[in-house]
Amino acid sequence: MSEFPYHWDADELVSRRELLQFAVYTSGTLFAATTLLALLGLIRSQERHDVRPIARVGEVPEGEALYFRYPDPDDEAVLLHLPGGRFVAYSQKCTHLSCSVYYQPEHTRLFCPCHNGIFNPLTGDPVAGPPQRRLPQIILRQEGDLLYAVGQVP
Ligand code: FES
Repeated sequence: MSEFPYHWDADELVSRRELLQFAVYTSGTLFAATTLLALLGLIRSQERHDVRPIARVGEVPEGEALYFRYPDPDDEAVLLHLPGGRFVAYSQKCTHLSCSVYYQPEHTRLFCPCHNGIFNPLTGDPVAGPPQRRLPQIILRQEGDLLYAVGQVP
């Protein structure tokens, strides 16, 4: 019985070349997987641009809001009839920690009650509180007196 029963001859040495090959193959595999996931995400986001009627123009008085779901039944959204007559729509999901934002016509602002986040209703840009990113805008199209949601700007 020896004191150190390790046989160096049986050791599988990994050469620098083999290590480099392993690193290159692993990086290539990760790059291919990331590219594939990005393409799948792109295809999925394009699928979400379904056209859906939201409301008739006369159903939302100027200065008021209508809450609806888009693009999925779980996605809350808000349609605003801004003073001056323009319509805009946004996801209700706050870009801080995903609470729902609400339109406050008395202040002409979108307000998130969780941490007092405030968004500009004209652009969806954050103007106060912790949110740093604008609200995702929903693209609208008007046909006659009917307003449709036709897509979402991330
Ligand atoms: S979740 Fe909206 S401000 Fe924090």
